[in-house]
Amino acid sequence: MSRTRPFDSLRSLGAGPSTRCARPGQGARLAGLLSVLALVGLGAACRQDMHQAPRYDPLEKSDFFADSRAARPLVEGTVARGFLREDAALYTGKGPSGQLLDTIPVPVDRALLERGQDRYNVYCAPCHGATGDGNGMIVQRGFKQPTSYHTDRLRTQPVGYFYDVITNGFGAMQDYSAQVAPRDRWAIAAYLRALQLSRHASVNDVPADARGALDAGAAPGGASTHE
Ligand code: HEC
Repeated sequence: MSRTRPFDSLRSLGAGPSTRCARPGQGARLAGLLSVLALVGLGAACRQDMHQAPRYDPLEKSDFFADSRAARPLVEGTVARGFLREDAALYTGKGPSGQLLDTIPVPVDRALLERGQDRYNVYCAPCHGATGDGNGMIVQRGFKQPTSYHTDRLRTQPVGYFYDVITNGFGAMQDYSAQVAPRDRWAIAAYLRALQLSRHASVNDVPADARGALDAGAAPGGASTHE
């Protein structure tokens, strides 16, 4: 890997092993050459120093630490900036005793649902389908078919279950914690609930003052009273 190749430069100057015998008068030239070589040698030594800098390379072995690891674990209690995550419910989807939450720990409004719809269509619909039936395009191309969100078992799950599956995965499904930030996971969970309600709501789920709009056949979302 060394960039200094003393013998190459020697050859190019005509002093390599193939050179004919040095004639008188060439002595001075040879001496000059040798001093150039000495300088090159010095240069190489400096480079060597820089290659072997007195610091650890990533994951290098250490003779100093008892566990031989140069990469040190974080001191206990260290929190990286932006990762305090004091609100355990928000970040785990679970209550203090580890039970799955059955309420969404962020305000649920139209903006959250629209965000959830947007993220769902990007990250979930390819398998679960746009309506949650479980026959998205990837499934049609042969991936394992997930259970429909509209089954009783999934309709009666606490909403924290969906947050948990997005965070930790489920069986053949990988987790989406790297792609979907915690707040967006709740947005998706809220949208899943909306998908489920779209097939299992009764007129009693509609606020009394909006039922008239249903009777009038207004398109979903057409009533502006709840925005
Ligand atoms: C690559 C395909 C794929 C994508 C994308 C995907 N899933 Fe899944 N999902 C599955 C499969 C397959 C299962 C069933 C896994 C099994 O039973 O082994 C599943 C299971 C689930 C379950 C559990 C259902 C049960 O039976 O209890 C939930 C909830 C779920 N997915 C939600 C989501 C959400 C939310 C997203 C988007 C963030 C998502 N999935 C993205 C394929 C996918």
